Amino acid sequence: MIMVKKSVYLDNSASTRVLDEVVSAMIPYFTEIYGNPSSLHSFGIKAKKALDDSRKIVANSINANPEEIIFTSGGTESDNIAVFGVAAARKDGRIITTKIEHPAIKNTVQKLKTQGFEVLFIDVDYEGFINIKQLEESINADTILVSIIHANNEIGTIQDIETIGNIIKTKNPNTYFHVDAVQSYMKLPIDVVSAKIDLLSIASHKIHGPKGVGALYIRNGVKLKSLQLGGSHEKNLRAGTENVPGIVGFAKAVELNLVDLEEYTKNLVFLRDRLIDGIEKRIPHVILNGPRGVSRNSNNVNISFKHIEGESILLYLDMQGIAVSTGSACSSTSLKPSHVLEAIGLPVEICHGSIRFTLSRYTTKEEIDYVLEVFPKIIAKLRALSPLNAN
Ligand SMILES: Cc1ncc(COP(=O)(O)O)c(C=O)c1O
Repeated sequence: MIMVKKSVYLDNSASTRVLDEVVSAMIPYFTEIYGNPSSLHSFGIKAKKALDDSRKIVANSINANPEEIIFTSGGTESDNIAVFGVAAARKDGRIITTKIEHPAIKNTVQKLKTQGFEVLFIDVDYEGFINIKQLEESINADTILVSIIHANNEIGTIQDIETIGNIIKTKNPNTYFHVDAVQSYMKLPIDVVSAKIDLLSIASHKIHGPKGVGALYIRNGVKLKSLQLGGSHEKNLRAGTENVPGIVGFAKAVELNLVDLEEYTKNLVFLRDRLIDGIEKRIPHVILNGPRGVSRNSNNVNISFKHIEGESILLYLDMQGIAVSTGSACSSTSLKPSHVLEAIGLPVEICHGSIRFTLSRYTTKEEIDYVLEVFPKIIAKLRALSPLNAN
């Protein structure tokens, strides 16, 4: 039987397909309402209204007030404004984060370390859960910021941000709590008030919105210093004309995700577990990275295949029309093993044989079954060729 090659996109934590309704909502802001939202004429006023409406939608989705949201160019910029902004306002002190942060936080705090800030990286266990006791003991009077990734972008581990928020504020009410929610937003409910969050980063292109747009929640009263100089846009914290079409698209994506969030998440979990179970049943010598069940992000599957290289798996899957990533999409061009997989204690040679599949609302059962059909053959072939194979 000749198998028809399909096109299966399973790299949705890297970026997602934009919803058709989002594209339609954006178009008038390129061709009709193209004024600068800071301008005082009617073109500008209409653009400003779109900006205000979008801000309300994003704010409501996390139980914030509209004036607590600034729009940015994405997750990286939101993370940078939060971390560098707090550091610039407070001048010195201790910053606490985890060993499994996205480079947008990891590299930012490492830079601050070179500038004299004390930076602590909290350990995680074999499933990627942070050591809560170590975190609690690390927060002292000098601690200016705790930054925690909500759902890990590589292995899907979800941290209990409500418990963490309470611990931080009990130990030191002056310590700011920043959450990188780029992978959890629109997959998990987020309430910035009940989790005692001061700063929260999100990005549009992970939720079927356009690229180049994100937001940072900044609780009223939080002191940040801007590092980007220019006009007074976005509360003087992010100078530069706002990307109105992008922001409108972002807000539309939020609205559309909220319509069926529960049902869609249930379906994602079904497909995620079908993929995990199917791989574990059909392929020997595999390790699931990250937890099972409710503490795993609904769209994430990360598996290590012993005796082979992730890059070869990726290329063979690509030849069958299946798009995945090796570890983190952002580090996929580097040969260094993923710092997240290292942090959960995976041996280096096994880190290199790891593949991340990330699903979306467009993923179907037929696509998962297609992967389960072609994948065992690819792994068997690669293992037969592999010099690392002990068998
Ligand atoms: C957890 C996390 N934080 C930050 C980012 C950076 O977001 P962006 O690509 O929008 O700059 C990503 C992107 O993958 C991410 O997964």
